[in-house]
Amino acid sequence: MAREKVTIPYLYQKRARGEKITMLTCYDYPTALLEEKAGVDIILVGDSLAMTVLGHDNTLPATMDVMVVHAQAVRRGAPGAFLVGDMPYMSYQVSKEEAIRNAGRFMAEAGCDAVKLEGGRVMEETVRFLVERGIPVCGHLGLLPQSVHQVGGWRVQGREEAEAAQLLADARILDQAGVGLMVLEMTTRTLARSITANISAPTIGIGAGPDCSGQVLVLYDMLGIYGGRVPRFVRNFMPGADSIEAAVAAYVRAVKDGSFPAAEHGFD
Ligand code: KIV
Repeated sequence: MAREKVTIPYLYQKRARGEKITMLTCYDYPTALLEEKAGVDIILVGDSLAMTVLGHDNTLPATMDVMVVHAQAVRRGAPGAFLVGDMPYMSYQVSKEEAIRNAGRFMAEAGCDAVKLEGGRVMEETVRFLVERGIPVCGHLGLLPQSVHQVGGWRVQGREEAEAAQLLADARILDQAGVGLMVLEMTTRTLARSITANISAPTIGIGAGPDCSGQVLVLYDMLGIYGGRVPRFVRNFMPGADSIEAAVAAYVRAVKDGSFPAAEHGFD
């Protein structure tokens, strides 16, 4: 039997009940079927696709046209999940008009439920513009892969007091602007806990410790099939599982029962 559609109110209810929200990236129809079957709450068609599927060094080469095709395939396989389209590099930074045109493509052409964009206070106006026009937005703070050339590599965010204070302030600003969810990538556990306690949107951590409202991983990292460098915060769920389906189900169970992430997957 098809499961009930996952909605933002449902995700808020889960958070209120103290139940962890499960999220995974996905790029194609067959794995979308598996994630749907495993009951993953939120599926992100991540611009990590540029790396995991297309073999680039970073996420910048992902384009709207490619992202929309993959989001369409994922939606066909996962009609019940809350589907988030990841706004690729330069699809939302130039102007809020371009942002809504591209966000609208994810919603209209691929049936997404929300779009995700990276950045703090600089994105306040864009987030408000999209939300006021009916497009739910997931924020993304901490390590921002689309700014890789500016930050010069992958570094834990929020270790310095001033940086942590700035990120907390950014989270509050985006929350006020109306984000419905907030991804926190590779931050200290302390900062993620503090953001989670101080904003109304549920937080979804990736390398941000166990205190977020939920967790996300890149699918090919947690299956151990990505050929590049895999961050320390990832757990490979394939050992002990006899199929991809079993590994995805094990991930969902581990997030729900709090056994993932463990101390070794976090930073403080
Ligand atoms: O593109 C992606 O996969 C992401 C996750 C790392 C959250 O943004």
